[in-house]
This record gives sequence, C-alpha cells and structure tokens, in this order.
Amino acid sequence: MSEESAATHPVFEQVNLAVGTWAWGDRLFWGYGKEYQEEDLRQVFRHCLASGIRFFDTAEVYGQGRSESLLGKFIQESGERVTVATKFMPYPWRLRKTALLKALRASLKRLGLQAVDLYQIHWPYPPVTVETWMDAMIEAHQEGLLRSVGVSNYDRQQMERAQNTLTRKGIQLVSNQVEYHLLNRRIERNGLLKQCQGQGITLIAYSPLAQGILSGKYTPENPPSGPRRGRYGRRMLAVIQPLIRLLNKMSADYDGKSPAQIAINWTICKGTLPIPGIKTVEQFEQDFGAQGWRLKEEDVALLDEMSDQVTGKL
Ligand SMILES: NC(=O)c1ccc[n+]([C@@H]2O[C@H](COP(=O)([O-])OP(=O)(O)OC[C@H]3O[C@@H](n4cnc5c(N)ncnc54)[C@H](OP(=O)(O)O)[C@@H]3O)[C@@H](O)[C@H]2O)c1
Repeated sequence: MSEESAATHPVFEQVNLAVGTWAWGDRLFWGYGKEYQEEDLRQVFRHCLASGIRFFDTAEVYGQGRSESLLGKFIQESGERVTVATKFMPYPWRLRKTALLKALRASLKRLGLQAVDLYQIHWPYPPVTVETWMDAMIEAHQEGLLRSVGVSNYDRQQMERAQNTLTRKGIQLVSNQVEYHLLNRRIERNGLLKQCQGQGITLIAYSPLAQGILSGKYTPENPPSGPRRGRYGRRMLAVIQPLIRLLNKMSADYDGKSPAQIAINWTICKGTLPIPGIKTVEQFEQDFGAQGWRLKEEDVALLDEMSDQVTGKL
C-alpha cells in the first residue's frame, strides 16, 4: 500500500488518472491511420471532458509532433481549459539551454497554448547535464512558458540533482514519469517510489497496462502485432498467463471490473498516477472505470505475489 506521502503539487490535485497520448498520430509503433483515426481520438477527447478527465500527457516526439497538434486542435475545438503535460527530448545534438526554450515554444505552437502545465525532460540522456536542463527549465518558468517542472525516466540520483537545482531558485520538482505496472516493479525495489512519496514528487506511472498486455486480450496464440511483439512475444505471454488468470478471477469480486481496470487500480493503490494510453472511446470507458474505487489490501498483496512469481520466470 502507499507510503506516508508528502503533499503533492496543485497541478495533480484531484487527479487519479490522466490520459497518455503517445498513440495519437503515431503511425510507426501504434498504427495510427490504420486501426484508428483522428475522429476516434476526437471522440476520446470529448468523452474525457464529459467524464471529468482533463489531464493529458503528450511529448514533442509522439507522432513527430502530431500528438501535440491533435491535442491542441481538440482543445481549441472544445474551448475548454485542460491540463497539459508535454516533454522535451534531449537529443544528442541539443547542447545548449536555448534548445529547450526553442523546443518548448514549438510545442506550445502545436498545442495552441501560452504555457504548459507540466514540462518534463523525457530521458536523462547525456551529454548535457541534469543541471543545465534544469537551468533551462528555470528560464522557461521565468518567461511564463511552463507552470511546473517534471522529469521522466530519471533515477534517484538524477532526480535529486534536478530537485537541488530547482530548489535553489524556489521551484519544486513536481513529478517523475517512469514505467510502472505489474510486470515492471523496479521502482518499488530501487527506492524511487519511496523517495518520490517522501518528497511530494508525484510518480507518474507510464504503460500501466504494459502496453495493453495486462488487459488479457493478447495470448501466446494472439500476440500483439508490430513492434510490441519484440518485448511481449509468445514466450512472455505464456509465462504471464497465471497473472492474467488472477486478474480475471478477481473480476468477479469487484462487480465485473475488467483485468485492465484491476491492473490500473493496482497502480493507484501503490500511490502513483497512471496514464494509460487510450485510442478509442471503448478503451476510455474501461480505463476511466479503473478509478473511483480501491482494491482490498489483501488483493493488492495477492497481485504483488503473483507478479513476483511470473516476473521471476522471465
Ligand atoms: N516518459 C516515457 O518515456 C513514456 C514511455 C511510454 C509511455 N509514456 C506515456 O504513457 C502513456 C501510456 O503508456 P503506453 O501507451 O505505452 O501503454 P499502456 O497504457 O500500458 O497501454 C496502452 C495500450 O493498451 C491498449 N489498451 C488501452 N486500454 C485498453 C483496454 N481497456 N482494454 C484493452 N486494451 C487497452 C491500447 O493498445 P491496443 O488497442 O493496440 O492493444 C493502448 O494503446 C503513453 O501514451 C505516454 O503518454 C511515457
């Protein structure tokens, strides 16, 4: 269960679940334009607002800018204020602070916004130091281009360095976005989750469904198509079936909640903010139903145990 938590930043107030938009406009990995189109995503966006989900996570690299453009278009069409988190990719040719400000302005243009609510460094890639990018974040904050600062895929030391640099200027590091789901619990073991919770840094859990695998719809006989098959191939799918069976079995105890809903709820019970990737209204309706209730402590423990068992065999 979640540790004693320090207060989180107001940007996350009353946010239990946000929508991940990597697949919005991404043809290569997710197949945008084939299985789902702009209109599907517009409908997802409208359903989100109608249901009170107003926090969207995107990145300049998603669909090479198309994710931000689609999100910006939908926001403009709605005329409503939503919370937008986007990300800066520290490509190896981006060597100066000014690169971040330039990239942020380009993101804002695609999004049609004056400022983003949360700006995150996507990966802690070298050669530029953590401190340099945080200095750039401070400048962007002073210019009013961002409202809060986050990081992504940072380890404990990198997070601490980011936090120290920001704190010297009176700015808080509000989040660290990392992979977290029943098949990847590294952050529980390496102390990152605990560190975040102790310092009021929101742990944003990406890929809470392990890229759709924890929904149970993919089996050794029916693996996902495309690049996901590399990581979640037939052998892996065979090994994790006991976990999928447990998720299905729990469904009966929770009013028919689906495996996807139970898997996402597990990340909420651990004190993180899940951002499932959603392409269709059907997926939205399911994933939306993953919040507003809680698994019993003993069921979280059962899932932990089964997750240990199956991941131990991978
Ligand atoms: N910071 C980073 O480095 C980083 C990395 C990865 C992701 N992210 C963020 O995290 C978000 C979510 O991660 P993700 O998209 O990798 O993985 P995810 O949320 O674990 O899986 C999303 C995929 O699962 C399937 N799905 C979603 N809901 C479903 C449901 N109810 N039933 C059945 N299938 C369902 C859909 O794909 P299919 O229908 O094709 O199966 C969907 O695209 C991204 O959009 C992005 O915002 C960040």
